[in-house]
Amino acid sequence: MATKSSNSNLHRAAKVKNDEFYTQLADIEKELKHYKDQFRDKIVYCNCDDPFESNFFKYFAANFNALRLKRLITTSYTKSPIAGGQLPLFEMEGLKPDGKEPYVIEITEVLDINKDGAISIEDVETLLRRNKKSSRKLQGNGDFRSEECVELLKRADIVVTNPPFSLFRQYVAQLMEHGKKFLIIGNDNAISYKDFFEFIKKNKVWNGYGKVKEFKQPDGTLKKFGNVGWYTNLDTTKRHEKLTLYKKYNAKEYSKYDNYNAIEVPKVSDIPINHKGVMGVPVTFLDKYNPNQFEILGITDRDSKNKYRTKMYTKEDSPKYNDLNRRAAIKVNNELKPTYARLLIKFKQ
Ligand SMILES: C[S@@+](CC[C@H](N)C(=O)[O-])C[C@H]1O[C@@H](n2cnc3c(N)ncnc32)[C@H](O)[C@@H]1O
Repeated sequence: MATKSSNSNLHRAAKVKNDEFYTQLADIEKELKHYKDQFRDKIVYCNCDDPFESNFFKYFAANFNALRLKRLITTSYTKSPIAGGQLPLFEMEGLKPDGKEPYVIEITEVLDINKDGAISIEDVETLLRRNKKSSRKLQGNGDFRSEECVELLKRADIVVTNPPFSLFRQYVAQLMEHGKKFLIIGNDNAISYKDFFEFIKKNKVWNGYGKVKEFKQPDGTLKKFGNVGWYTNLDTTKRHEKLTLYKKYNAKEYSKYDNYNAIEVPKVSDIPINHKGVMGVPVTFLDKYNPNQFEILGITDRDSKNKYRTKMYTKEDSPKYNDLNRRAAIKVNNELKPTYARLLIKFKQ
């Protein structure tokens, strides 16, 4: 469960545009192991990743042959405070000139040059030294929205990265616009962004397998987060698994919302198996969501136009009418109480 302080770390990140949280190799390995077959013969693009410092580059370069990639492209961004390197993967001398120029690296093969039987980051380093053409300066600043990065995006099959939290919506919008497959890290709270929620609702993006609990900061320290995980449109086995349920609906146990035409189900495992109508469930449901079993209809979060909403409160109803209008409300001992944000779902007919 997310802690209040870890969630507010993310809010703060978005607010002060502190986007400098670096993904650890173990977290990338843990998630990527589930998708190996889907990478065969694919062009992978990491577009928020200084190739000399990102573990995404390191992972794909070291696993280039194991995944049978066709090509790996990574680009860095001018303004990154680590450009120039607090977290260098390589001995950079001779590989990258001084300064903060944004770079692109494109590789189409990685050989076991040091003949140790495995592809290591040393092999990648040797490859970059021998094949100077595989890295070059970008003309612009490496912004993922820049023309030259969009051209690289167009050539890519799958985009994999941890994009800047503060630009998450624009980042996803661009991937969608170009119809790309992706596996990216994002904040659970992103589902309350209207445009992003529409993608979730329409099954254009879903949760990956895991959460990412700690990121490295440029000063080398770790920062903990409670509500960060993977989003993807690559297939996952878990979205085909049926959620096993055992509870039956009864009106005494399940409250009806006062302002939505739906019932409150406070725990995902308590979804009543025989309820045909709309149900409000915790947003953690997304981790269990199988689109063949359920349909997502909406979210009870600042959505005054939600078609399942039955009323808007005024100050005559309650002094807390603003809080109540923000979410779904239930009556407890004759007093109206707002619930947490809920996904509105129903069983697929
Ligand atoms: C959350 S960090 C993650 C870095 C790296 N992908 C990783 O996971 O270790 C986001 C990165 O995106 C870079 N960035 C910020 N704005 C960008 C933009 N407009 N275009 C490309 N990269 C950007 C930041 O400098 C930062 O390095």
